[in-house]
Amino acid sequence: MSAFAEKLIAWQQAHGRHDLPWQQTRDPYAIWVSEIMLQQTQVSAVIGYYGRFMVRFPTIASLATASQDEVMQHWSGLGYYSRARNLHHAAQTIMREHNGEFPQDFSHIQTLKGIGRSTAAAISVFAFQQQQTILDGNVKRVLARLHAVEGWPGLPAIEKQLWTLAESLLPQQNLPAYIQGLMDFGATLCTRSKPRCSECPMQTQCLAFQQQRVAQLPFSKPR
Ligand code: ADE
Repeated sequence: MSAFAEKLIAWQQAHGRHDLPWQQTRDPYAIWVSEIMLQQTQVSAVIGYYGRFMVRFPTIASLATASQDEVMQHWSGLGYYSRARNLHHAAQTIMREHNGEFPQDFSHIQTLKGIGRSTAAAISVFAFQQQQTILDGNVKRVLARLHAVEGWPGLPAIEKQLWTLAESLLPQQNLPAYIQGLMDFGATLCTRSKPRCSECPMQTQCLAFQQQRVAQLPFSKPR
C-alpha cells in the first residue's frame, strides 16, 4: 500500500467522519442520493434534506413515479436544481432500462444523467466495494499539493495527470475508508485557504509543504 494510503486510512479512522446517515448503508440508491446532494454542498447543509428526501422517496421506484414538482419541493433551498431534475430523470431511466435496479457496471453508472466519473466511483466504492478512485475538487487540491502538480486542474491535460496519480495511490484494502478519508481530508484539513499543515500526517511526503508552495498550489484558473 502507498505510504499516502496507509496514513490517510489511519487519519480517517482517527479524525474523519463515521456517523453520517449515508455511511450506515450499502444501498446504492441511498448512497447515490447522498453523493448528488454533497456535490457543491457542505455536509452540514445536506443532512436535514437527506433525511426528509429519503423518508418521502425511499426507493428508486418511489422517486421515479413522483411528480417533478414534489421532487423539486424536497430540494428547495439546497440549490443547483439541475441536480434534482437529473436525479429524477435517472430514476426513471433505471426503472425503464435496468428493471428498477441500480446498475453495478461502472460504465453503465456513468451513463445516468448527473453522474460523472467521480460520482460513479464514489457509488461503486461505497455500495459495491469496487476498485475505483474519485477526483472531485477537494481531491484535486490534495493531490496537486502532495505531488506539486503545476497547472490549473481544470485543464484536460492536468486533470488527466491527476486521475493517473489518483489511480496509482489506491490501496487494495480498506478502499471505502480510504475514499471517505480523501473526501474528509480535503474538506477539513487540506483546505483551499488556511490548510492545517501543522496537524497534517502527510507533511514529510507533501512536496508543496517541503517547497513552501502550499498557498500557491493548485494553480488557479488562468485569466
Ligand atoms: N462529498 C462528496 N461525497 C461525500 C461524502 N460521501 N462524504 C463527505 N463529503 C462528501
